[in-house]
Amino acid sequence: MTPKVHAFFDEATNTVSYVVQEPQGRHCAIVDSVLDYDPAAGRTDTGSADAIIAWVRNHDLKVSWILESHVHADHLSAAPYLQEALGGKIGIGENIVMIQDTFGKIFNEGTAFQRDGSQFDALFADGDSFHIGQMRADVLHTPGHTPACLTYVIGDAAFVGDTLFMPDFGTARCDFPGGSAEDLYTSIQKILALPDATRIFVGHDYKAPGRDEFAWETTVGEQKALNVHIGKGRPMSEFVEMRTGRDATLGMPRLILPSLQTNMRAGHMPEPEDNGQRYFKVPIDTL
Ligand SMILES: [Fe+2]
Repeated sequence: MTPKVHAFFDEATNTVSYVVQEPQGRHCAIVDSVLDYDPAAGRTDTGSADAIIAWVRNHDLKVSWILESHVHADHLSAAPYLQEALGGKIGIGENIVMIQDTFGKIFNEGTAFQRDGSQFDALFADGDSFHIGQMRADVLHTPGHTPACLTYVIGDAAFVGDTLFMPDFGTARCDFPGGSAEDLYTSIQKILALPDATRIFVGHDYKAPGRDEFAWETTVGEQKALNVHIGKGRPMSEFVEMRTGRDATLGMPRLILPSLQTNMRAGHMPEPEDNGQRYFKVPIDTL
C-alpha cells in the first residue's frame, strides 16, 4: 500500500510536516505540525498551519488523525488549532507521561497540570495499530532522542520523526532528559529492519555539506548504505561514542522552553494567570 504523502517545510525551524492520505480515498493524517512562534515578541502565528488547512480543504480531505512523533523541543505544535479547524484525534506515544513528569518538575507546574497524557486523544504503545480511513498505521516505539519517540509506519511509508535524518546528515541528538544514544541505536535498527524500499520521511532537515537544497524523503536501503552516522552496519559502541561526543558540543534549540511548555500539553498554551494573560516560564541555570 502506497499512501500519498505531501510535505510542508518550515524553514524557520527546519521542520517537515506531512499530510499522509489513503491511496484511494479522502482520509488523511497530519504528522508533526508547526505553530509559528517569535520568541522575541512572544507572538504566535498560524501561517504554517493555515497552509496545511488550505491544502486539506482544497483537496477535500477528511482528517482522521493529528499525529506527533514526539514532544518537540524546537517548534510548537499546531495540533489543537488544526483539530479545531479540521477535526481528527491527536495521538502521541504513551511515554509522554515520562516527559510530563520530567518537565512538570522543571517548570514547577501545579497540580492542575495532569501528568497522565490526558491532554491527548490517544496514547500509542509499541505494536499498536490504528486506521486512517481504510489505511492501516502501525506504531513503532523508537526512543533515544526522547523516551516517547514513535515511528508511524503507514503502508510503504515510515514517518521517523527525530531518529534518522537524511543519510548525509545522520541522526538526532540524544542529550535531552531521558535521551539515550544506546536506545537510539536500537530504535534505528528497528527502522532499518523494514523492507529496503520503505520510504522514510524525516522530521527535520538542515541541508548537509555538499547539499544546498532541503530534502526529507529517503529509503531504508539508502539509510543502510549511506547514513553517515549509522550506515554500513556501524557497531553500537562506535555510534554511541560519536553521538555523545557530538551532543556535548550542541547548544539548546532556540525554542526549547516555549516548545516544551506547549507540546507537553498537546499543543495548548499554559493556563492564563489571574489577569487573563498566558505566560511561558524560563527556568534559570537549569537546562
Ligand atoms: Fe525533536
